[in-house]
Amino acid sequence: MEQQEPWWKGAVIYQIYPRSFKDSNGDGVGDLPGILSKLDYVSSLGVDAIWLNPIFASPNDDNGYDISDYRKIMDEFGTMADFERLLDEVHRRGMKLVLDLVVNHTSDEHRWFREARRSRYNPYYNYYHWWPAEKGEPPMRKSYFDEEGSAWRYNEATDSYYLHYFSRKQPDLNWENPDVRGEVYNMMSFWFDKGIDGFRMDSIPLIAKDPAFPEIDLERYPDVFSYYAHGPRLHEYLHEMNSEVLAPYGAMSVGEGSEIKPEEAALFVEPERKELNMLYGFGPSAVRNETEPDDGDSGIGYSLIALKEMFTAWDEGVGDGWPAVYLGNHDQARMLSRFCIDDGVYRDVSAKMLATFLLTMRGTVYWFAGDETGMRNIRFETIGEYKDVDTLNNYKRIENEGGDAQAYLEGQKLIARDNARTPFQWDASPNAGFTDGTPWIEVNPDYKTVNVAAEEKQPGSVLNYFRRAVRLRKECPAICYGSYTLIEKENPRIYAYLREGEGERYLIALNFSPHDAVMQAVLGAEKGETVLHNYDDEAGAERFREGCLQLRPFEAVVRKLS
Ligand code: GLC
Ligand code: CA
Repeated sequence: MEQQEPWWKGAVIYQIYPRSFKDSNGDGVGDLPGILSKLDYVSSLGVDAIWLNPIFASPNDDNGYDISDYRKIMDEFGTMADFERLLDEVHRRGMKLVLDLVVNHTSDEHRWFREARRSRYNPYYNYYHWWPAEKGEPPMRKSYFDEEGSAWRYNEATDSYYLHYFSRKQPDLNWENPDVRGEVYNMMSFWFDKGIDGFRMDSIPLIAKDPAFPEIDLERYPDVFSYYAHGPRLHEYLHEMNSEVLAPYGAMSVGEGSEIKPEEAALFVEPERKELNMLYGFGPSAVRNETEPDDGDSGIGYSLIALKEMFTAWDEGVGDGWPAVYLGNHDQARMLSRFCIDDGVYRDVSAKMLATFLLTMRGTVYWFAGDETGMRNIRFETIGEYKDVDTLNNYKRIENEGGDAQAYLEGQKLIARDNARTPFQWDASPNAGFTDGTPWIEVNPDYKTVNVAAEEKQPGSVLNYFRRAVRLRKECPAICYGSYTLIEKENPRIYAYLREGEGERYLIALNFSPHDAVMQAVLGAEKGETVLHNYDDEAGAERFREGCLQLRPFEAVVRKLS
């Protein structure tokens, strides 16, 4: 089974936010030589691939998600020679390298847009979406990041408005134009020719729009953003991209499934559709932000039942395709702070429980750098400490609209993206060993205890537990490739499931709550063997009493059933 599967199916993909990983030259910004110097560490984790957030030339309005030249390395990150060396060294260690493809929009400083905005007759004008002023006010479109809220921005030279779903420095490309698509495919080939192994595709469901820009029927689309994704020609474009570049290069692809529902996933990832290999949705953040506890005294701040339903719906939703699982990335706060309790006696077991969860799920695992040491939210107190355009502009917008900016700031402590973007914590030296200079964003003060060097020394650390969990996944085909069956659906504290295949069966039981919890024991569990456990003592047969399995706060047990 294992041999015939493509590499990415069994993979753990380690996501590095280059700006925050390791600074090599003291300017306070992480860079490619910094990553290169830490490849032995990455490889020691047992992960299979690295995904780098954008490393291309950019004025950094949105930390590299606003690209001004797709074929150049961002000055702050290094040179093309640095990149080539990094790619070689990643491959030499038997890992793969995946880059970020940001083609819903460019930077407004990209040559195409600088040309486009000069005149309606410029050949690049049609590379972007415009609303001519003589047609009146453009139909309402919201921007995710704009401080005034609208996704249209007036441009004097052309007497028209350009569309920007993100900040005004991120104009949306017009995928209707075959020249745009051709440029994108050529650029992808440029990187495949260098030898990269795949792309993570930013905001990919947003590339297709209805170019007539009809008025949005707010009755039908109360959440207007869902209207922006999955435009009429989306699958046609993805299919074309697949046949033009992805298939010929045998490249791996994973889409960021902005606004996509699990039941739509198969359309993107079923192999016979020849579009993408994988797609990840925004389910984890929705569950964390939008649901209420299932049980008043479970101590879980959201609905675990909804979380289970969501992961299970994606598992089913991919059909014959393959799931992508994650809990954190550069757009989410730290998973430990969001899904568990990140301090005191619970920090350690919580972090290990979440690692057990992700590494025993069916699907390719996307692991955000730093989670393996149990990094936590920094929880900035003031707006002045934030760097992210999302937080900064939405704060301004709320202030301008006379809203409650203080409440917004309070909420950002839990969900702001900058929580995940603080520097990686290498050791207890100043700035956590991230830089000799002044870091571009503050280092989490917990770095004195939460850091790689300290955890390397402790056999029982979160870091070493993560390594064991990765190894277990590699050694057990049933955990990697087997089926996933949710059990204890209605249990408000325990997430439990079976993974079966190749004649083996595993029970995974995870207590997401800071209290004791109980579930029905599964047949054969009592006599089974515990293969991974996040408490120090044995989780032997004594944990199974009277047909029940008892779990302590945040306890995680993986048991091979006989
Ligand atoms: C994606 C990225 C996010 C970025 C946005 C605009 O959601 O993951 O970081 O801000 O797209 O490119
Ligand atoms: Ca640097």
